[in-house]
Amino acid sequence: MAEFIALIPAAGSGSRMGENIPKQYRLLAGKPMIYHALHTLCSITRISTVCVVLAPDDAEWARHDWNEFSGKIQIFNCGGTTRAESVTNGLRALRAGNYAQDQDWILVHDAARPGLSTTLVERLLNQLEDDEVGGLLAVPLADTLKRASDTGRVVRTEPREQLWQAQTPQMFRTKRLLEALEKASASITDDASAIEELGYSPKLVAGDAYNFKVTYPQDMELAELILRERIATRK
Ligand code: C5P
Repeated sequence: MAEFIALIPAAGSGSRMGENIPKQYRLLAGKPMIYHALHTLCSITRISTVCVVLAPDDAEWARHDWNEFSGKIQIFNCGGTTRAESVTNGLRALRAGNYAQDQDWILVHDAARPGLSTTLVERLLNQLEDDEVGGLLAVPLADTLKRASDTGRVVRTEPREQLWQAQTPQMFRTKRLLEALEKASASITDDASAIEELGYSPKLVAGDAYNFKVTYPQDMELAELILRERIATRK
């Protein structure tokens, strides 16, 4: 039986947030941002291991108490200069440590998506566990899309039919994902793109708006509201 393993790349600096502390450690509802995705992924019984990829010079992780996740998490200080490199290095570490076999499923999830719910993870596992390729959470595009010129004026309106916004987790088998990332072009920004470059079509599984990526300073306020509410109803 293939196992389910989560991998959280958390080696980014979060430069768009304009703070000294890396984004994944900014406090949300009293906890470092990455805590929330870890809490969700660790609470899924079918996920056997949650691996966290930190920057080699990470100075923040050790400042917090992660005891509640012990037994389920593995920490690797092998982050790279891009997200793809961090995921690749994490996969290599999982293989080297015998935590993941070729056919095991890897769920790659951004530390910067703290609003991930157990419902979404269960939906992803249920819809993909028998799939040939794997896939990702995503939401159909709601807004009208404008292509901009260099001077910030509209060049044209792009049709939005059949367009989806990719989220994470993105779920693929260990061997194929590693092969895809090792061959991928430098410009990819998610794992599914690497799989697509190999000629496969990942499946789109419905995500939700709460699973947005905290990118800009104003995103923190929204994430704070969502997580406070969620924690309050959990207790
Ligand atoms: O910067 P962005 O929000 O796109 O990063 C997405 C995820 O990838 C974050 O969890 C971030 O920590 C991670 N990342 C990484 N290594 C990098 C860059 C980003 O693990 N070099």
